[in-house]
Amino acid sequence: MGWKIVTGSDNAGVGHKSALKDLLENDPRVDEVIDVGVTGREDGTYYPNVAVAAAEKVAAGEADRALLICGTGLGVAIAANKVSGVRAVTAHDLYSVQRSVLSNNAQVLCMGERVVGLELAKELVKVWLDLEFDPESSSAAKVDAICAYDGSLDEA
Ligand code: RB5
Repeated sequence: MGWKIVTGSDNAGVGHKSALKDLLENDPRVDEVIDVGVTGREDGTYYPNVAVAAAEKVAAGEADRALLICGTGLGVAIAANKVSGVRAVTAHDLYSVQRSVLSNNAQVLCMGERVVGLELAKELVKVWLDLEFDPESSSAAKVDAICAYDGSLDEA
């Protein structure tokens, strides 16, 4: 079974989002890509609305992960983290992307189109697709402690 991944961005991130969505759709590790917008620079939907729509799909189990892009990658992460059970990070380097899954069991990766070049973003996403959290690892209790704060512990 491949990943089911939600993509989303505001108009500051739609360039990278579109390219990364294409990458995901053509990767054999991905079964399905669900895009929650926006589709162009002219769409002024605020980044929190897109981020929460994507995060809610992850929280509901409709998708395994989400990839969110805004100008900085910061706003979408802040908004996505408001959804119970969702762990979203902003990461633009290899080590952080790796640890976001392996240490933090983050299901949502956020990047900034104004921060990271598209080719590096593509490489990071390719690495991200191979990462899986080990629930038997010593990090599991720490992630559980996060979940205990937002009431999602039983769902984790
Ligand atoms: C543009 O609205 C910019 O503020 C947004 O894309 C994002 O960077 C916010 O965190």
